Amino acid sequence: MNFTQEDTYKLLQIIKARRDVRGNRFINKPIEDDKLQMILEAGISAPSVGYSQPWKFVVIQDENIKSALVENFKQENTQAKAIFKNKPLYAQLKLEGIQEAPLNIAVLYEPKVDDVLGMTSMKKMGEYSVVCAVQNMWLMARALNIGIGWVSILDEKKVLQTLKAKPNTQLIAYLCVGYVDRFYEESELKTLGWEKEKYLNECVVKL
Ligand SMILES: Cc1cc2nc3c(=O)[nH]c(=O)nc-3n(C[C@H](O)[C@H](O)[C@H](O)COP(=O)(O)O)c2cc1C
Repeated sequence: MNFTQEDTYKLLQIIKARRDVRGNRFINKPIEDDKLQMILEAGISAPSVGYSQPWKFVVIQDENIKSALVENFKQENTQAKAIFKNKPLYAQLKLEGIQEAPLNIAVLYEPKVDDVLGMTSMKKMGEYSVVCAVQNMWLMARALNIGIGWVSILDEKKVLQTLKAKPNTQLIAYLCVGYVDRFYEESELKTLGWEKEKYLNECVVKL
């Protein structure tokens, strides 16, 4: 299939319009099954080392599980606040939307027992493959006007226990998924002055 210039431009627009969405932006509107299906389909269409497809997607709506995750976040964020005590802005940031989002998806890495083509030298390629799935989901969600927020201020072991995950499983991403009242035009952390934007000339080295 050959894409048109218009398609290419649209893709760039979707990439640039993707935002991390936190709890203050989610609205109370359920995600339709066919939309969830498209987001998950995008996930499993990601590249993976040796075609290992080492991902598992745990779709969470159970309020008890969400409450346990909120508690987990609060504990971890208390420690984070202490780490950033010299940057008072940190304590004011909303950094998750676990309860507010109608859906949460935990994206897990389930390593293969057998050797994997492409992982014989660089051992983290399995985890990186799952990250590719996460990005696909994030972009598909944005194309459906659905927001995703990635929450990483969590105790991984406790999350896996709460989810009753198989042994040896790793948590790659905990995603809050839902419709939003609006998407910010730029990263909130840039707007708030937490970090500056890096431009292309700072990120590219030509040898
Ligand atoms: C690996 C990863 C972990 C992240 N963890 C968090 C998090 O715990 N809480 C949060 O509010 N945002 C989290 N984010 C979102 C980033 O803060 C966000 O992507 C960044 O500020 C750029 O903003 P944008 O995604 O809206 O463009 C995470 C993003 C990534 C890629």
